[in-house]
Amino acid sequence: MRFPEGFLWGGATAANQCEGAWNVDGKGPSTADIATVGAIDKPRIYMNEIKDDVYYPNHEAVDFYHHYKEDIKLFAQMGYKCYRMSIAWARIFPTGEESEPNEAGLQFYDDVFDELLKYGIEPIVTMNHYETPLYLMDNYNGWSNRKVVDYFEKYTKVILDRYHKKVKYWMTFNEINSAILNPLFSLAMREASLQEVYQASHHQFVASAKAVKYAHDHYPDLQVGMMYGGIFSYPHTCKPEDVMACEKDMDRYLYFPNVMCRGYYDNKAKAFWKKNNINIKMEEHDEEILLAGKVDYIAFSYYMTMCSSAGIEVKMNLVGSSIDGAENPYLKKTDWDLTIDPMGLRYALNMLYDRYQLPMMIVENGLGAVDTVEADGIINDDYRIDYLSKHIKEMRTAINEDGIPLLAYTTWGCIDIIAAGTGEMKKRYGQIYVDRDDAGNGSMKRTPKKSFYWYKDVIASNGENL
Ligand code: BG6
Repeated sequence: MRFPEGFLWGGATAANQCEGAWNVDGKGPSTADIATVGAIDKPRIYMNEIKDDVYYPNHEAVDFYHHYKEDIKLFAQMGYKCYRMSIAWARIFPTGEESEPNEAGLQFYDDVFDELLKYGIEPIVTMNHYETPLYLMDNYNGWSNRKVVDYFEKYTKVILDRYHKKVKYWMTFNEINSAILNPLFSLAMREASLQEVYQASHHQFVASAKAVKYAHDHYPDLQVGMMYGGIFSYPHTCKPEDVMACEKDMDRYLYFPNVMCRGYYDNKAKAFWKKNNINIKMEEHDEEILLAGKVDYIAFSYYMTMCSSAGIEVKMNLVGSSIDGAENPYLKKTDWDLTIDPMGLRYALNMLYDRYQLPMMIVENGLGAVDTVEADGIINDDYRIDYLSKHIKEMRTAINEDGIPLLAYTTWGCIDIIAAGTGEMKKRYGQIYVDRDDAGNGSMKRTPKKSFYWYKDVIASNGENL
């Protein structure tokens, strides 16, 4: 009951949630830099401008920018085989429009990759994780504008050319299907009609396919994946209406991997456009580009499952990190209202593999919880160990009993970072504690939690000791 030889164990973060240094060494502001702190009952505000007297948690985050050596050393101590991270586009092209990249930004990622490789840790890199240069949102209305495809193409060529010898595994857009739930996160648009969301998503499909094709043409050893935001639904009952509601809810989200894994819009996608009066404007070669830029693997996040029921609309909850549908009476929830469903992970792996027959990675999974530092400085996060252990067991069964080709598993927010939905620090996922609070106070000191030592043993035993 072990994992396959060479399985990539590790952790994951996103640049805007951990790096800080939001305006250091030439970085431009991004869409993540205008967000205030929220809470479970208080959504973050995305402001129109950056004000001096407002606290923006992502500006300093946990200052990975200046602590990366110390942090990577801790990753190495846990025995990481890989580390999933993202590149901040606005560090490379501060507004997105420049013709030349920012050398200091490029150098930073060179340094991070070198540090990882020094310990034999394989970087897995997301090109765009919920942040776009703010300038492109303010002046182009984000991805609604076709011109942004060109700016993204320029950016992805620069990073692929620069890092292809150091980074083998890439992903284009984080949780690309979240566009229909939160256009600001992924499309850099403040508000968007259905027509605008699907047009902007078309631009992202083309941009992603161009990056995949460029990588394949120039660097055939690279693997470029898509990243699905883990939405998996069960019918609330066996009533045919609920089963059909589930099918239709899932169609909306699977629309995204369908295009990126298969390389075309299928009949169901076209019927959806027709029913909703969506008219996708395509340029002459777009269909060829989509076909030529099919991804090599599917990565996905997994935190929860939901239930579909006829007549209940599935939507993102107030604080933006959970999906509300019908209640599932069989599952407990986290303090942030996400259902806890380890077996759902095995179901998700089976379902995605059946549809696409591609290798997979689980690049986000974990428990957001409040941690207490005991008097002796120890953090006993047994609840997190329990959560992770149960999920990893299901993964192991999926590999060994179902034959699922799983390449990697990375725990989300392996070092405590700023929560994306609420901007809180106290919603912690990490195996490494960071002394920082919701108001930005704290020493930034890093301390391994109990789950650090537990995960180290999981990795050392290749998944046997859970
Ligand atoms: C995923 C995102 O949706 O969920 C991450 O890719 C995010 O960026 C994670 O951090 C957890 O959500 P939250 O709101 O708890 O940070």
